Amino acid sequence: MAEVPGNEAQDSAESSEAHIAVHWREEEYYDPPPEFTAQANANDPAIRDRFTEDKFPECFTEYADLLAWDERWHTTLDTSNAPFWKWFVGGKLNASYNCVDRHLAERADRPAMIWVPEPEDADHVTITYRELHRQVNEFAALLRDFCGVEAGDRVTLHMPMVPELPVAMLACARLGAIHSQVFGGFSGAACGHRIADSGSKILITMDGYYRSGAMQDHKVKADEAVEAARKEGAEVEKVLVFRRSPGQYQSGTPMVEGRDVFVDEVLPSYSGQTVDPVSMPAEAPLFLMYTSGTTGRPKGCQHSTGGYLAYVTGTSKYYQDIHPDDMYWCMADIGWITGHSYIVYGPLSLGTTSVIYEGTPNYPDAGRPWRIAEKLKVNIFHTSPTAIRMLRKVGPDEPAKYDFQFKHMTTVGEPIEPEVWRWYYQSIGKRKAVIVDTWWQTETGGFLGSTLPGLDKMKPGSCGPAALGIYAEILDENGEPVPAGSGRAGNIIIRNPWPGVFQTIWGTPERFVQTYYAKYNKDPDSKDWRDWPYFAGDGALQAPDGYFRILGRVDDVINVAGHRLGTKELESSALTVVEVAEAAAVPVIDDIRGRVVEMYVSLKPGYSPSTEIENKVKEAIETDIGKIARPKNIWIVPDMPKTRSGKIMRRVIAATSNFADVGDITTLANPEVVDGIRHQVQAAKHARGEVPRELTETELAEIKSFGAE
Ligand code: PRX
Repeated sequence: MAEVPGNEAQDSAESSEAHIAVHWREEEYYDPPPEFTAQANANDPAIRDRFTEDKFPECFTEYADLLAWDERWHTTLDTSNAPFWKWFVGGKLNASYNCVDRHLAERADRPAMIWVPEPEDADHVTITYRELHRQVNEFAALLRDFCGVEAGDRVTLHMPMVPELPVAMLACARLGAIHSQVFGGFSGAACGHRIADSGSKILITMDGYYRSGAMQDHKVKADEAVEAARKEGAEVEKVLVFRRSPGQYQSGTPMVEGRDVFVDEVLPSYSGQTVDPVSMPAEAPLFLMYTSGTTGRPKGCQHSTGGYLAYVTGTSKYYQDIHPDDMYWCMADIGWITGHSYIVYGPLSLGTTSVIYEGTPNYPDAGRPWRIAEKLKVNIFHTSPTAIRMLRKVGPDEPAKYDFQFKHMTTVGEPIEPEVWRWYYQSIGKRKAVIVDTWWQTETGGFLGSTLPGLDKMKPGSCGPAALGIYAEILDENGEPVPAGSGRAGNIIIRNPWPGVFQTIWGTPERFVQTYYAKYNKDPDSKDWRDWPYFAGDGALQAPDGYFRILGRVDDVINVAGHRLGTKELESSALTVVEVAEAAAVPVIDDIRGRVVEMYVSLKPGYSPSTEIENKVKEAIETDIGKIARPKNIWIVPDMPKTRSGKIMRRVIAATSNFADVGDITTLANPEVVDGIRHQVQAAKHARGEVPRELTETELAEIKSFGAE
């Protein structure tokens, strides 16, 4: 194992990832193809001069000017209520108008969306801007007149990957209502908590959808969601149920009289109706997107209308290099921030064609994405390292069999291993596509770190420099800068506000300040943005060339296949199983999904370990959160390793699960339990063939400091 220099603190009880120095082999640069640069939206290096710090915040008017405003703003950035930043104050606009109406004059017949159903024998569906306009207007009329939705109301959506989802989002936006789309794979209970937290009275869902070849009953989750919300004192008045095939109901659950309505039965009454887009203040909320954090409750990240839309439009133009005539396919789910910003709002605001695929990438086989790309002539492709690893494993030779050529490809959501990056570049990009590795978060609305695709050299495994107008830095725990090229990691922060940053956590502004700004703020009364660095919660280091390499979360979040899972959420779910006394979730390195979760539990007196209890824990998590959170293994252990103050030492069990050195355990209250747990877990893993490959230095650093005390 290579030595990790300068990390004497690594095994001590105080270590955290941010302290750990890591050095890695510098990867070779790749140049953007000249043909790409020639046509790129950003192909003049002078663009950087327009976004230097002396031009802040006015530099971002360049992004806002890409939008149609009803009224122009008078103040670009208002910091008077720091850190609740207000962008483009005084400005008014409507997001649906910007994504739909304004394209009608010149490109009404151009496809806005192309929907690809999962069953391969079904034809794709093309929705032009004219058609999108009709659908958004009719659905907005239904929301307004049938459901009584008004500006400022919250509307929860629990939709799969179908065009009705962007239609519903844009219909809410047209009315100035705040949509809150819950990822379709989340459970009914998870949706219910989000309904209650946001105070939505309307739930929009679908009867079912295809996934891996099977029709999923989705409406059943709506019933569970309404029930879960009711337990928290929130009453859902109406459940609008789209039918995936109108007239044909594909769920086993009954419709609830007076509450549940088939959209295709009500919509004809609104046929041909138009709804004037409501002119909204720039800082009016556009949507909520829930994400996991340190505590058990998911946080409703509130995004603004003007700042958000300006930021995703600007970054879609310069970083996704979207031109109106491109065929753009982002394979993410719209239920995550990537889909909101870079399937719906950014691409549609620029008037391009956005491809939406219903199903799993490897259904019915690993050639599916490439057949879609070939058939639709996709030229911009956007996906995650997990999808790339999976497609590489199951179909390494597939891309070569199809006649498609991307000009641009994105990777997002997790660190990408350099060898996976190179396969992406060589096999999928066929050495002719530029790649951007975009680092950002649910909270940030849009990209924070990325190369400019036509101008910057690519370096596998690094996201690149901070995005235009973003001044990023790495700080140590005391707030001292960790210089580029020092070889040391620290906490990556953004020194300045930017238009895409979320406005607050819905309902808990104190938590917003505490989680994202308190750490490095020295004067809570300051109105100067310079006093409020944004704490991203990621460990990172900066190479001498200024490129950032993101190591991963420094908080209690596990990134599974690019999805954030809070350990507290997983653990509180496990604790609902009556037999369980204590629970601790830890990450395990996985060659496909990046990380998977393993859960350690100890039982209350009088119970003995059984597969039944293991299954109960798995089911509890699936019910409370969803299938994606299902732990790979549940280890029922006689006792948890603990500190003298009684805290579970997650780094010790994380090391055990990953076959890493458990480090210093002399400070534990019960060091004698560690060996027993190691034998139990590692013997079982040997028997199951789950011994991991040798971990890299950064992986080891992460594991050994996980949840460190
Ligand atoms: O740890 C970082 C990782 O994903 C986290 C954000 O997750 P989420 O809010 O779900 O948004 C994902 C899509 C933007 C970050 O804190 N992450 C995101 N992009 C990258 C990344 N890690 C490394 N490289 C990236 N490109």
